[in-house]
Amino acid sequence: MTFVQNLDLAARATETRLAELLAALVSLDGSSRRLTAAMHHALLGGGKRFRPFLVIESAALFGLSEGDAIDTAAALECVHCYSLAHDDLPAMDNDIMRRGRPTVWRAYDEWTAILAGDALLTLAFEILALPTTHADPSVRATLVMELAKASGALGMVGGQSLDLEAEKLSDQAPQSLTSIRHLQSMKTGALIRFACASGPILAQAPDEDRRRLERFGDVMGFAFQISDDLLDVEGTAEEVGKAVAKDAAAGKATLVSLMGLDAARSKLAELEQEAIGLLAPYGSRAATLAEAATFVVNRRS
Ligand code: IPE
Ligand code: IPE
Ligand code: MG
Ligand code: MG
Ligand code: MG
Repeated sequence: MTFVQNLDLAARATETRLAELLAALVSLDGSSRRLTAAMHHALLGGGKRFRPFLVIESAALFGLSEGDAIDTAAALECVHCYSLAHDDLPAMDNDIMRRGRPTVWRAYDEWTAILAGDALLTLAFEILALPTTHADPSVRATLVMELAKASGALGMVGGQSLDLEAEKLSDQAPQSLTSIRHLQSMKTGALIRFACASGPILAQAPDEDRRRLERFGDVMGFAFQISDDLLDVEGTAEEVGKAVAKDAAAGKATLVSLMGLDAARSKLAELEQEAIGLLAPYGSRAATLAEAATFVVNRRS
């Protein structure tokens, strides 16, 4: 099976489970129809589902099935989709297209997009608390703790704040490579790191494996944001399903704007090798995860 077919299978499985969980946990009778429709819009209909794929594959590395990992994958995708719904708001990146469709606030309105994001964030933790996520409550508690840390002030939300402070506040010092690396490791890295660490957590693998997969996730997250920034410069809106050339227009300092295209591409090649190197102890069992590193570096969407 090719990498793209594998990614697609994980995406289909994640979407099926997300639809089931939404139907089971967010009943249309009890909740606002407008809110649930906006959650649906944010969650389903497009998206690579790359983070769920990493959850499923990092779990497979330790002998777990897709079914063993799917609820964790779905919970993480809820946080990711909420982060996108809020990232697109007028007060943040002010975007009108995402995944080839209107952003949540454009399809509904700002308050609905804010509330749908809030509800997706809390839904993620409700899912992690379900016995179907893992039979052992202590594993579920670890997942809750780690996803909370990855999502919050020291993770994605903190990185989004640093990103917007640098872009929008005129009294900010110019960004350096180090400060950009730091904010990206929070804004994008933290959720991808969680995705990769969740496999060993679900499998109750030794700490050494968890640390190794976290390092792999860190490298993958860094590469993922560099390729996002490259696509903003080199991609087309048709390919990526969202507006391009937004970062330069907003005067946003990214690794690409600071280093230039060629240096950013060589950095990506370096990170690909580093990621693959971290998987060496797992041999051919990690072949799909190694392909994921190559995918991140070469992706066009
Ligand atoms: C976009 O993430 C936001 C970043 C963190 C760079 P993705 O490129 O994974 O977006 P979808 O989920 O595939 O739409
Ligand atoms: C967003 O980064 C990262 C998030 C935490 C949502 P970007 O603002 O570059 O993501 P896109 O380009 O809008 O997808
Ligand atoms: Mg943004
Ligand atoms: Mg954005
Ligand atoms: Mg971007």
